[in-house]
Amino acid sequence: MDKIRIRGGAPLSGNITISGAKNAALPLMAACLLTDKPLHLVNVPDLSDVTSMAELLTQLGGEVDFKKAAESHRMTLCAKDLSSTTAPYDLVRKMRASVLVLGPLVARAGEANVSLPGGCAIGTRPIDLHLKGLEALGAEIALDGGYIHAKAPQGLKGATFTFPIISVTGTENLLMAATLAKGETRLINAAREPEVGDLAHCLNGMGAKISGIGTDTLIIEGVNRLEGTTHHVIADRIEAGTYAMAAALTNGSVRLKGAHLALIPTVAALLQQAGVELEENDDSVLVKGPSDRLQGVDMMTEPFPGFATDLQAQWMALMSLTEGAAMITETIWENRFMHVPELCRMGANITVHGSSALVRGVQQLKGAPVMATDLRASVSLVLAGLVATGDTLINRVYHLDRGYERVEEKLRACGADIERVR
Ligand code: UD1
Repeated sequence: MDKIRIRGGAPLSGNITISGAKNAALPLMAACLLTDKPLHLVNVPDLSDVTSMAELLTQLGGEVDFKKAAESHRMTLCAKDLSSTTAPYDLVRKMRASVLVLGPLVARAGEANVSLPGGCAIGTRPIDLHLKGLEALGAEIALDGGYIHAKAPQGLKGATFTFPIISVTGTENLLMAATLAKGETRLINAAREPEVGDLAHCLNGMGAKISGIGTDTLIIEGVNRLEGTTHHVIADRIEAGTYAMAAALTNGSVRLKGAHLALIPTVAALLQQAGVELEENDDSVLVKGPSDRLQGVDMMTEPFPGFATDLQAQWMALMSLTEGAAMITETIWENRFMHVPELCRMGANITVHGSSALVRGVQQLKGAPVMATDLRASVSLVLAGLVATGDTLINRVYHLDRGYERVEEKLRACGADIERVR
């Protein structure tokens, strides 16, 4: 199994090009199921989660052609004929975002059988709201043998659905389903994450009628059919935030090409409070570490535009070297502190109290062998390794490959001493 070895200490300096967003690409790929015409996606990241979604779409009868180029990867997807409406356990188990095929399949084919994703490392992650929302649109849902069986033989009907809790993929599933429902659908308390907006813009490009994009109320006027289109995937704000924190931690200076501060408003504000300089130009953000030590800044994760839970572990790595202390509160996932014991093994001073973690800044982290437990936890260990003295060896790096394209290459280009070892 691959490992990553990092010898810490070098300040990062140079340019990093931010890839297309994983969490935008996955629902956009699933949207190909809504039409028999080709969907062209530009700026698709080359990640193992993208490969998993491509495998699932192929299993359903879609054709996926992924052309990887140095400049920008392009993917063409075409679900001319659906050969199956079943998303099997083996594929859904690998990646929970597989549940994104549920809404499009019911809308287009009138039925879907999707394996229940089950628990996962960062919490129970239920999908009850996806199902309640589809029921509101007239689907009949049954759970049997570990599968969700959804049926709407006469097609879906527009309705108003209010999310009691904000759900990103829940909003995306219902948004896609509602594009082909009869009449108007209103999704209230919808997720405002930029990836939801990106999907809505692509669906409108395919002929859907969605308004309220970027707000918490999405209004969808159903249409009879959707066409193909060409769509550019937005930049990955989580990747951008991660590298911004890497630059800050190592007291470096890195230009993030393709990054936009509007996609990370709270993260940007908190970085500045911690003493990090951010300068936005046309299509890039220059991040410079502080002249003195970083300052401890409290943080609470929240739905967009709040601080993204997918950057919580990285913020903890950053705060572990500050002057003073920081209280980090996780409000989205109930079990998302698995990086804490690993960071502590590297010398961080962190104590967990329920859903909050108190990080007391230390002068120095020390390299150690550590274990990656999930995607964002593993990258927090990379950040810690970049600034620690000595060698850090990160095990189970397949988690990283799910969400960070060419992570060692991008960091090495900025002077990091990092390599993948077998
Ligand atoms: C998406 C992101 C993930 C991110 C998360 C929160 C993708 C592919 N994944 O995950 O990286 O960490 O948003 O920003 O975009 N909930 C329910 N019932 C449901 C659905 C969700 O109770 O039916 C709860 C969850 O347990 C959680 C909260 O709602 O506490 C938010 O979950 P949700 O936004 O649905 O996360 P995902 O869409 O799975």
